[in-house]
Amino acid sequence: MARLNILEYPDPRLRTKAKQVMRVDDRVRQLIDDLLETMYDAPGIGLAASQVDVHERIIVVDVSDQRDEPYAFINPTLELAGELVETEEGCLSLPGFYEVIERSERATVKALGRNGEAIEMATEGLLAVCIQHECDHLEGRLFVDYLSGLKRQRIRKKLEKQHRQRA
Ligand code: NI
Repeated sequence: MARLNILEYPDPRLRTKAKQVMRVDDRVRQLIDDLLETMYDAPGIGLAASQVDVHERIIVVDVSDQRDEPYAFINPTLELAGELVETEEGCLSLPGFYEVIERSERATVKALGRNGEAIEMATEGLLAVCIQHECDHLEGRLFVDYLSGLKRQRIRKKLEKQHRQRA
């Protein structure tokens, strides 16, 4: 297993639209393991392959308190239902920033699992929100896109400053 480097906003590679996974093989399973390790290490509750510069439709999530309920979804599609709920979201690609975003309270995920099996799962609450957030990454969308331009600009400037200081 390996811990992968997470791209940070405003890296333009985060805007890439991810491609369908055509074959669920050992390479994909290795990537899933690496994504999980990277997510747990960060630590975070979700990670999309896009965030580690692999532009394939794969996400991992674990919203459990014990950090022992990992899910991996390959080629996920979502059916959203219920009211819009406000949740404070963060993102490993925007470390240190948290903003309130509206999402659907329920989401049914259809995807392939790590052995290529078809999965259909009804989710709600934090898990549903997290899955919507991760699926956005596959479209090149980030949670800051839901904020005002002014707020987004402020976050961008702060992160760019951090990146300059690190370089
Ligand atoms: Ni994120």
